[in-house]
Amino acid sequence: MSDPVVKPLDSLVAETRRQIQPYVFRRLEARRPRQPGAKIAHTITVSSGKGGVGKTNIVANLAIALGQANRRVIILDADLGLANIDVVFGIRPKRNLTDVINGTHSLDEILIPGPCGIQIIAGGSGISELAHLSPEQARRLFDQLRFLEDKADYLLIDTGAGINQNVIRFCLAADRIIVVTTPEPTALADAYGIIKVISQSRPTSHVSVLVNRAESEAEATFIQERLETVARDFLKFPVHRLGYLPNDPNMYLAVRQQTPLLLFSPMSPAATRLRAIVSEAFHEAVTVTAPKSGIEGFLERLTELFGGGGSAA
Ligand SMILES: Nc1ncnc2c1ncn2[C@@H]1O[C@H](COP(=O)(O)OP(=O)(O)OP(=O)(O)O)[C@@H](O)[C@H]1O
Ligand SMILES: [Mg+2]
Repeated sequence: MSDPVVKPLDSLVAETRRQIQPYVFRRLEARRPRQPGAKIAHTITVSSGKGGVGKTNIVANLAIALGQANRRVIILDADLGLANIDVVFGIRPKRNLTDVINGTHSLDEILIPGPCGIQIIAGGSGISELAHLSPEQARRLFDQLRFLEDKADYLLIDTGAGINQNVIRFCLAADRIIVVTTPEPTALADAYGIIKVISQSRPTSHVSVLVNRAESEAEATFIQERLETVARDFLKFPVHRLGYLPNDPNMYLAVRQQTPLLLFSPMSPAATRLRAIVSEAFHEAVTVTAPKSGIEGFLERLTELFGGGGSAA
């Protein structure tokens, strides 16, 4: 005769197992070891010292160019407080990062489909600094971001301008950093400023410079060389060259139409140059090259940098 106490206990255990199994499976999935050469989402933060130099438009159009080349791209608008990637795409997000942080929605539910297969994570204008998140909120966010690894080849992160904690941390966490500058001396000085902080905080960072709104290739080369020289001489830090985009009035018109330049005016000088940059600099396979590459490494560093909350180890 079976024990009347044990039986309900057994079924209770079985029931609980059934209930938690999907979650256990998801967490094991998230922690499965990655093989060298496996596909990962390359994380690229686009930043600048000075504001208004073209970061958001560059992120949007890079994403389109990569999407047109059949790469899966997710844009994360990390310009918390002044998030506006949605404006460049002419979309009105109903949900944003705040909903994930508050635990009312999953990241899947807030992903907005954009053109060319791009997906967009709208920044939450209700959050000013990720550093202000509670440990529970940070854990929720990082746990959700982990699942992007399988959904994208590139995670492009648009940040705000200036050398504040949010910006620097997103730079330090990414596989690659693109620092955007214009030829103006103020923008150049600020670009040097952010490169200095990055080089001192994480000397292994990979930084490339994109000169935007150049009047000529010669002007862009001059700016690139100046930045490379001062970074080498004063910081002992290598700065790579991503290229330049010309000053192009079509960019202004595209912004006014809330349509990314590559779709608004595909044959314009800036659109043509941007496609050239993508085919020159983004042709390599996106695979595991180092243990801490991709979303996994990104979250691990982000967790360390923002402290508390995350469980990305
Ligand atoms: N290559 C270009 N040629 C002409 N105008 C440009 C070019 N790139 C950007 N712009 C202009 O610069 C403006 C600012 O661009 P954008 O919003 O992308 O800058 P940002 O760096 O993201 O600014 P913020 O620091 O405020 O986030 C755009 O509205 C556009 O009109
Ligand atoms: Mg911007």
